[in-house]
Amino acid sequence: MQAKVFVDAESKIARLDDRIYGQFIEHLGRCIYGGIWVGENSKIPNLKGFRLDVLNAVRELKPPIVRWPGGNFASAYHWEDGIGPRESRPRKFELAWEAEESNEFGTCEFIEWTRLVYTEPFIVVNAGNGTPEEAAHWVEFCNSTRNTRYAEWRRRLGYREPFNVKLWGVGNELWGRFQVGFCRDGEECAWRTAEFVNEMMRVDPTIKIVAVGCDYDLEWNIDMVKIAGNYFDYLSVHTYVFADRQGRTYEDLAAWPTALEENLRTIYRLVEVTKRRYGVKKDIKLAFDEWNVWYPEAKPPLLSQITKVKDAIFTALVLNSLQRLNRIVPLACFAQTVNVLPLILTDDEGRMLLTPQYLVFKLYAEAREGDVVRTLAFSPSYHSDELDSEVPYIDSSAVFTNGRLYLFLVNKHPEEKVETEIFIRGFEPSSLNHKWISGESIEDMNTFDEPNRVKLGERDQSFKRLIELPPHSVNLLTLS
Ligand code: AHR
Repeated sequence: MQAKVFVDAESKIARLDDRIYGQFIEHLGRCIYGGIWVGENSKIPNLKGFRLDVLNAVRELKPPIVRWPGGNFASAYHWEDGIGPRESRPRKFELAWEAEESNEFGTCEFIEWTRLVYTEPFIVVNAGNGTPEEAAHWVEFCNSTRNTRYAEWRRRLGYREPFNVKLWGVGNELWGRFQVGFCRDGEECAWRTAEFVNEMMRVDPTIKIVAVGCDYDLEWNIDMVKIAGNYFDYLSVHTYVFADRQGRTYEDLAAWPTALEENLRTIYRLVEVTKRRYGVKKDIKLAFDEWNVWYPEAKPPLLSQITKVKDAIFTALVLNSLQRLNRIVPLACFAQTVNVLPLILTDDEGRMLLTPQYLVFKLYAEAREGDVVRTLAFSPSYHSDELDSEVPYIDSSAVFTNGRLYLFLVNKHPEEKVETEIFIRGFEPSSLNHKWISGESIEDMNTFDEPNRVKLGERDQSFKRLIELPPHSVNLLTLS
């Protein structure tokens, strides 16, 4: 098969905001306990209780931002339970996932971990069964320099300087009846959001707020913007693609990112129109702060699954979309980093395995700054029955910076390689580094027994216009 890809290095779509490569960790299954945290006395190598292999693997991804503590968990979490000497923290029955929570890992542990992996914290407050006052106290604990109760509490624990948490989520998926403290409709959620933000901002007016939006209920989003639009900076959208839903094929899975991109554009347009209609002045963008594929085996209490090359294709396609959407969606969090719908899996014997999806994030982490520039890919296409659309086999996105062009190319074809001709305007490269992920087939995966079955390929060469993309592959061409 043959394709042509055009890149215009002089046509900027957006300045890359690398927060689209963000991650999400939740108190759920073995994400925190067993994934991020094992405790200082564990036989598993750790640094101050943080699991070392995971710490190093996450460091390699250089996530710009990490969202915590949930997810659904956030809607029943009372942050004070996780503060102070670990031995006196309460062990509680946790309502969101109906599990036991030891509270060994709390705000200070989260902040220390984010510092160790060089990332920014993004905290979601409990707007389910929590109160605005409790949320404001949490902001004070983290950010205040005053000589008042919660800031003093932080200092007494040894943290003289504030944590300076800039990004705060107010609630999680409050549109769902499964959510502790759910709202009846967008109107109720909007008023609740306004009350929370009203108190949180009095403590620290510099914080930025992510409010609950919905990927399918447009009326919800209208109410949020109309009533509470002046209280938040980002409207949150979550999307999981249930990969094995009856009749859904690999071809459909690989078509989904296009639908998802269109949906995010539609929601953003709706936000803009609603702002205009109701005179909301605030600059509001979207935070796509939970997204992934979800297989039927990923059930509570663990939500564990081992994803394959086909899911790496899906992941790269979403990241390409997010680069293209960067101006309107500057922030995204993959759900989730460790053990829950995971990029990284661990066991209690001290083994760790990195999925093909992990390798995709590692590849995209190479392009962290620059301009997202316009690309156009021409290739044969196929028909997705589920989405009833024609889907091109090749997808492209590019980031240009300081004499270097990062060109991300995905070949969705399950069997065929693609001879791709590349045309660039505004930049003449001389050398080319090609990295790719493809495995033997779309079903290929890494396991604890064979952890390196799917790995990154790499070759250096002088720049040639014609590049061969392996079947079912995610490719990064670094041109300089
Ligand atoms: O990521 C798993 C769960 O999926 C999150 O807790 C929730 O927000 C979503 O429904």
